[in-house]
Amino acid sequence: MAIALGDPAQFIRDHTVLTETPLVPEVRLYVASEMLPIWQMTEDEMQKVGLPPPFWAFAWAGGQALARYILDNPELVAGKRVLDFGAGSGLAGIAAMLAGAGQVSAAEIDPIALIAIDLNARANKVIVTRLEGDIVGEIHTGWDVVLAADVCYEGPASKRIVAWLDDLARAGMLVLMGDPGRTYFPKTGHEKLISYAVKTTTELEDTDLRNTSVWRVTGLGRDGL
Ligand SMILES: C[S@@+](CC[C@H](N)C(=O)[O-])C[C@H]1O[C@@H](n2cnc3c(N)ncnc32)[C@H](O)[C@@H]1O
Repeated sequence: MAIALGDPAQFIRDHTVLTETPLVPEVRLYVASEMLPIWQMTEDEMQKVGLPPPFWAFAWAGGQALARYILDNPELVAGKRVLDFGAGSGLAGIAAMLAGAGQVSAAEIDPIALIAIDLNARANKVIVTRLEGDIVGEIHTGWDVVLAADVCYEGPASKRIVAWLDDLARAGMLVLMGDPGRTYFPKTGHEKLISYAVKTTTELEDTDLRNTSVWRVTGLGRDGL
């Protein structure tokens, strides 16, 4: 999708605030306080309706939990090649770089998210490589660790993503997911590593604290696939 925004980076700076992330104060992100106004402004700027929500403008509960876990367990990513899949703001990938990852690629289907990731990476003085498009299904040998935070929010898409992450785990990669109990998060095929109470906003979630877990995908099974 081509970006029609005149200056997308300026648009992001104008409509968000560079803020510490609640569970991960080490990482500052350009975030919005409310979903609907920035969604509407994005559609107005791009002169398009029906755009997906600006996921990049928020630190989702799964991303906060996964970023916290990585920063507290830096040996998991130190010196490794890391993919942050469905990166949104880039939170998990930025945390991986701060934890000493050798390199991080952030994959996104939303081109504005990729610009937000760039801004957020710079704000945290790290470099994150941008990977645009849908890479689900590709078995890539260039990653040691795959991070996927809060990516199970739509039924059919979640099935594809979970099956692919399972394949990556079976191919030998360390695959870590962060999830606050979304409907489409699989019930098997992973082991819980830790849980956190994550502060979010009632506008995004139905509560301002979400119990959110970090999971390691075992590659040993997928329910309902
Ligand atoms: C709820 S957001 C989570 C963002 C971030 N990981 C976090 O936890 O804050 C989900 C993100 O996944 C992205 N996404 C969905 N399907 C994707 C795909 N097939 N490839 C890459 N990104 C995808 C969306 O554009 C969105 O930014």
